Amino acid sequence: MTTTKAIAVSAALALSATPVLADDLATTTFRDYVDAEGNISLPSNARNSWVHLGSWVVNDADAPGAGFHDVYTQPEAARAYRETGEFADGTVLIKEIRSIESGTKTTGPALWAGEPQIWFVMVKDNQNRFDGPHWGKGWGWGLYKADNPAVNVSESFEATCMGCHVPAQDTGWVFVEGYPTLK
Ligand code: HEC
Repeated sequence: MTTTKAIAVSAALALSATPVLADDLATTTFRDYVDAEGNISLPSNARNSWVHLGSWVVNDADAPGAGFHDVYTQPEAARAYRETGEFADGTVLIKEIRSIESGTKTTGPALWAGEPQIWFVMVKDNQNRFDGPHWGKGWGWGLYKADNPAVNVSESFEATCMGCHVPAQDTGWVFVEGYPTLK
């Protein structure tokens, strides 16, 4: 290995070993999940490497939000919230909706989650970075379906999201009562 290469490799190792701080989210989120035009992409690693904030289950096939809802965020975002009571710039919240499976288990009549169907994503933006239809109220808002997770199919945050989130307006537009990990 050349000296330059060795230095580059050890610098990369040193960087990856540094714990990520909440302040860094403002950089990493807007590098990894949001492009220069403000297009939000669905983070693919949430279930394996982010923290689980909590679950909801809407057990009524005719309800608008039928299914299992699991909500995830970056570990440092959860830590920052527990310390400050606020979502740090660059916090990403993902709600994954899966179908409801049911059957009798040795525990009793059980419900469990099937395949992912839809993901809702919110990206905290404290700097008013973007003007587009998917940005407002301090967040970026995106909606992705399992048949094409690369495309944000939300029309706009006002048309698709905001109406339903009004009850959570006083807690930063987030239904924090459902998330024990933030307490
Ligand atoms: C039918 C009403 C409804 C619509 C439409 C809706 N939401 Fe939500 N959303 C909720 C409710 C209620 C919760 C928490 C309880 C639950 O999931 O059942 C929630 C939770 C979330 C969460 C988890 C964090 C939190 O706020 O608690 C995210 C992320 C989210 N929504 C993003 C979005 C985005 C982005 C859109 C638009 C593309 C959207 N939602 C549209 C009602 C809605």
